[in-house]
Amino acid sequence: MSDPAFVPPNLVGTVTVFHAEEAAALIATGATLQRHAHQMRLALPVDAPDESEFWPFAPDATPPVPWERVMPSFEAAYPPEHPDHLPGGPAEPALAGLPGGPALIDSYLVPYTAGAKLGPLICHASALAVRDGHVYGGILVVDRPDEGAWVCDIWRDPGTAYAGTGSTLLRWSASRLAGHDSLGLVVTVGNDAALRAYERTGFTIESTAWTIRLP
Ligand SMILES: CC(C)(COP(=O)(O)OP(=O)(O)OC[C@H]1O[C@@H](n2cnc3c(N)ncnc32)[C@H](O)[C@@H]1OP(=O)(O)O)[C@@H](O)C(=O)NCCC(=O)NCCS
Repeated sequence: MSDPAFVPPNLVGTVTVFHAEEAAALIATGATLQRHAHQMRLALPVDAPDESEFWPFAPDATPPVPWERVMPSFEAAYPPEHPDHLPGGPAEPALAGLPGGPALIDSYLVPYTAGAKLGPLICHASALAVRDGHVYGGILVVDRPDEGAWVCDIWRDPGTAYAGTGSTLLRWSASRLAGHDSLGLVVTVGNDAALRAYERTGFTIESTAWTIRLP
């Protein structure tokens, strides 16, 4: 999840700082680190071939495949040990106040793609990856006010058959962003697979932020 302001709904009363010393000083007073994340950016233009398995969103932001068929790869990509995991999958009953499982369609996927959260979806640069009827990944790119093109989310089925989908999706999307100077995103520190995929694609770190819950 690449919303820089994303904090689970039970974690209100937070501040964001951009220096390790400032974060350490707050934590020493009893504050709790909630998210430590890099903001990254890729310079455009980028060339990439079209991909027949990447199905773009319709101009009204309707997904090319119903959201219910997206959930298996989405939930598999964010298992409980993932730093951006939202609890509540089928094997993990929803915790009070936290959306999760199929509820993620209404609490997360629809609001972000409908433009209600970060900015309007750039539909022709957002896609679901589909092979033999299986939705094995996706990328959601929005036009974020003051930031421009922004990866709101990217994921893939963790199966080895789909390795490499992440960087292919990023290049495909970047190549469809005529009129934009750059593509930005946020990645949680510790999400090493995603960080490697972004660096492999050419993204570089712009800044690092600590989101901290005050005591
Ligand atoms: C982030 C994510 C989409 C990256 O996708 P990815 O496909 O794993 O990333 P890459 O394209 O860089 O490829 C990954 C691996 O496949 C390998 N690979 C690349 N192309 C390949 C190919 N054609 N065939 C086989 N392997 C390939 C790479 O070497 C790489 O391995 P390594 O990083 O261990 O060296 C994926 O890790 C994911 O879904 N993570 C969970 C959700 C998440 O964290 N999203 C980002 C939130 S900010």
